Amino acid sequence: MLDKIVLLGPPGSGKGTQAKRLAKEFGYTHLSTGDMLREEVNAGSDLGMKAKSIMEKGELVPDDLIVSMIRKRLEATSDGVILDGFPRTTAQAEALDAMLSDAGTAIDRAILVDVSDNEVMQRLLGRAKIEGRSDDTPEVISNRLDVYKQQTEPIVNYYSNANKLSRVNGEQDIDNVFADLKAVVAG
Ligand code: AP5
Repeated sequence: MLDKIVLLGPPGSGKGTQAKRLAKEFGYTHLSTGDMLREEVNAGSDLGMKAKSIMEKGELVPDDLIVSMIRKRLEATSDGVILDGFPRTTAQAEALDAMLSDAGTAIDRAILVDVSDNEVMQRLLGRAKIEGRSDDTPEVISNRLDVYKQQTEPIVNYYSNANKLSRVNGEQDIDNVFADLKAVVAG
């Protein structure tokens, strides 16, 4: 079984949904930078105050803030880990490799959950009606997709060049996406 996994994919591709299920099934620690940042915003911390307006626009929080936030969590866990929403830039991917290398370990596999822009828009507008997340408006979703293409998609090549990339079709129902992910995780 894989020990350290990165889940990649556009906003709304199902990273959070699937990471929670994989964590439950296999005992991984699930680390979601989006969830961590929303907790900081709700707590009104310094980091939360810096992140709030950036997240509301669908832009990325600066790499140094994200890397130091995730470093603390990684140092605190000895379990297998699923990273959801991190890394999101090449600089973050390189920082992750460096911090794991210092600890004598490495990412085993990055799994891209592939979903089209149109499906993303439908899913997130659907979620907006239920959860009211402030970044689930048509304009901000559209910007999040642009930011994903410009700043996060290059990491797909980063992991592909390292022979660590797998892809699953994220446009199936949740159980079938989960079945495909389980097959990758089982190795
Ligand atoms: P983050 O919370 O990571 O948002 P995101 O990547 O845009 O991802 P989402 O949570 O919207 O989607 P998801 O892929 O997890 O899908 P989900 O399972 O929820 O980040 C938010 C913000 O924080 C960023 O914009 C940025 O500002 C900042 N940030 C976070 N990390 C950062 C970093 N590393 N660097 C810099 N800034 C960072 O599913 C979505 C919906 O679809 C749900 O309603 C779900 O029920 C539904 N769904 C899921 N799977 C399926 C399926 N197979 N079929 C039908 N519906 C489905």
